[in-house]
Amino acid sequence: MGDGPDTSLDSAAKAAISRGDISPANTAKSPVNTAISPANTAIAPARRRAQFHNLQIAEVRPLTDNSIEVTFHVPDSLAHAYDYEPGQYVAIRTTLEGEDLRRSYSICQAPRPGVLKVAIKRGQGGTFSTWALANLKPGMDLEVMSPEGKFTSQFLLERRAHYVAIAAGSGITPVIALIQSALEADDGNRFSLIYSNSTAMDTMFVDDLADLKDRYPARLALYHVLTRERRSSELLTGRLDADKLERILGSLVRPSDVDEWFLCGPFELVQLCRDTLAAKGVPAEEVRYELFTTGEPGKSQSQHGRPVEIAEGQKVCEITFRLDGTTSTVSSPSGSGETVLNAALRVRGDVPFACAGGVCGTCRAVLTDGAVRMAENFALEPDELERGYVLTCQSVPTSEKIAVDYDT
Ligand SMILES: Cc1cc2nc3c(=O)[nH]c(=O)nc-3n(C[C@H](O)[C@H](O)[C@H](O)COP(=O)(O)OP(=O)(O)OC[C@H]3O[C@@H](n4cnc5c(N)ncnc54)[C@H](O)[C@@H]3O)c2cc1C
Ligand code: FES
Repeated sequence: MGDGPDTSLDSAAKAAISRGDISPANTAKSPVNTAISPANTAIAPARRRAQFHNLQIAEVRPLTDNSIEVTFHVPDSLAHAYDYEPGQYVAIRTTLEGEDLRRSYSICQAPRPGVLKVAIKRGQGGTFSTWALANLKPGMDLEVMSPEGKFTSQFLLERRAHYVAIAAGSGITPVIALIQSALEADDGNRFSLIYSNSTAMDTMFVDDLADLKDRYPARLALYHVLTRERRSSELLTGRLDADKLERILGSLVRPSDVDEWFLCGPFELVQLCRDTLAAKGVPAEEVRYELFTTGEPGKSQSQHGRPVEIAEGQKVCEITFRLDGTTSTVSSPSGSGETVLNAALRVRGDVPFACAGGVCGTCRAVLTDGAVRMAENFALEPDELERGYVLTCQSVPTSEKIAVDYDT
C-alpha cells in the first residue's frame, strides 16, 4: 500500500474548499416481524448504562457548508462516564418547539481525555441537524448520552493488520476515529479508506484526512470517489455502484489482503458492500457496519412516549422491566401495537433509547418472560438474538405478560 498511488483529493480540488472534509455495528438485519421468545442462554456481563449529562460545547468548527464538528468539554467528574471506544456514538437530546428530540452522532476522534467530538451533517428538512448548524455555539450546554455502540474493534498491539473502511457522506464520522486509533495502536497497522461524496466541497474532514495521510504516508491510503466531479482517475469518478465497487476491489484494495472491514453510509451502499464482500468469500465476522438510518423515511426517529389510554374492561398485557436494579410494571392495551419502550417510558422517563427506529441498539434488553414481535432489527447480531436480546423500541408483546431486563 505504501508504494501505491496517493489517490487522495488532488490539490486543485482540495484548494477549492476552504478547509473542510469525510465512515460498520456488526449487525445482521433479521427478517421483519420476528417472533421472539426468551432464550435460556447465559447472560452477558453487566454493561454500563447509557445516561444523559449536560456537557458544555467548547468549540464549533465548520467542516463544509453543510456540516460542523462540535467539541464538548468533559469534566474530570464525568471522565469515566464518557470513556469510549473508537467508532462509538452518543445521543444528543434537546427540546424543540415542545418536542423531545434525540439524535445519535458518532464520535469523530480517537479517545482523548477531557474532550468528545461529534460531527453533524445537515439533512434537507432535518429537524435537529438544521437547528444544530444554525444554533450551536461555544459555551452552550447540551444533554449528551454516555457513549454506546459496537462499531469498533480491538486494535491489538503487534497484530500488524490491514483495515479497510468504505464510507459515504457523514458515514466518515466514526471511521475517522477508527483510522486514528488503528494507526496509533501499532506502527505495523495499515488503513485504506474508500470514501464517496458528491463533490470535494461537500467532503467532510477532507483536510483532516490529508493531514493523517501526511503523518502516515506509507500506512494510510485514501481513495476519494466523487459522484459529481471529475477526478483524474475514471475509477474514482461517479457513483459507487456494484460495477465500480467490483473494480476497486479488484485493483486498489484486494479482499485477500484485508483483515477487517468497516462500512458506514447509506443503507443501500452498506448492503451492496456486504453482499459484494460475502460473494468474495469474506467472512461476516470480519465485516463491521454502522447504519445511520434504515433508508426508509419515517422508520427511524419514530414517535416515542406517546400517551396511551386503557378503556375500562380492556384486555391488557402486563409488562415488567428491570432497570438499574429496580423492577417496574406497566399495563399496555392488548392489540394496541404499543412497543415495550413506549409503555416503559410511561412509568420511567430514564428508560434508555436513542434512535427509536431499530438502528442503534441503545434500547436493547433481554426478554426473560413471555413473547414479543419485533418489527425491525438493524442493530442486534444473530448471537444476541439467540441470547434473548430484543430492541424494546421495536417489540410489541404477543403474550399476556412479558418481562425484560435492561440491566444485562
Ligand atoms: C448510530 C448512529 C450514528 C449516527 N451518526 C451520525 C453522525 O456522526 N453524523 C450525522 O450527521 N448523522 C449521524 N446519524 C444520523 C443522525 O442521528 C440523524 O438521524 C440525522 O442528523 C438527521 O436528523 P434530523 O433531526 O436533522 O432529521 P429528521 O428530522 O429526523 O429527518 C430525517 C431525514 O428525513 C428527511 N426529511 C425530514 N423532513 C423532511 C422534509 N420536510 N423534506 C424533505 N426531507 C425531509 C431529511 O433528509 C432528513 O435528513 C447517526 C445515526 C445513528 C443511528
Ligand atoms: S432506540 Fe435505537 S434501536 Fe431502539
